[in-house]
Amino acid sequence: MKAKSLFLMAAFIAGAALAEDHRQLATLPPAAQESLREEMLGNLLAINEVLTLMAAGKVKEAGQLAEKALGQSAQGKHRDKPFNARPGPHMPPAMHSIGNDGHVAASEFAKAASSGDREKALTLLPKLTEGCIACHYSWRTR
Ligand code: HEC
Repeated sequence: MKAKSLFLMAAFIAGAALAEDHRQLATLPPAAQESLREEMLGNLLAINEVLTLMAAGKVKEAGQLAEKALGQSAQGKHRDKPFNARPGPHMPPAMHSIGNDGHVAASEFAKAASSGDREKALTLLPKLTEGCIACHYSWRTR
């Protein structure tokens, strides 16, 4: 199948999914939601920077950034905030574990890239967005 028709199919499926939202609702306190939103924008920026570094052949740098910003090293960044501003403890366990798995997956990519193994890093590149898709397609907060 050509890339364009794959894209159209994906857009169609996404449209159908959103028309009737079957995702589960997780109710987070407003402060936790705000912390989450901030983290999410940082995630998006980090992914773009990792991709930019990979495209420039800076594989090790891409790995280091991925680990720091998206991998297991990025966990616990809300630890020192007041309880109601920490997203993790307010998530249903199933949602929280998707988040944790996402950090583990990002670290798998980061480990390969940090070693400078470009081929392996490219193979594991989709690991960076695995968790994003898994959570966003299952959970919503409003
Ligand atoms: C465990 C679940 C979970 C994971 C994993 C997750 N997200 Fe999110 N994301 C959310 C939720 C929930 C919101 C909505 C927050 C809110 O209430 O505004 C959100 C919001 C966002 C937003 C919108 C921010 C805005 O401007 O309002 C972006 C962009 C985003 N996520 C990107 C990502 C990326 C990129 C990843 C992967 C690196 C990711 N997310 C992983 C749950 C998740």
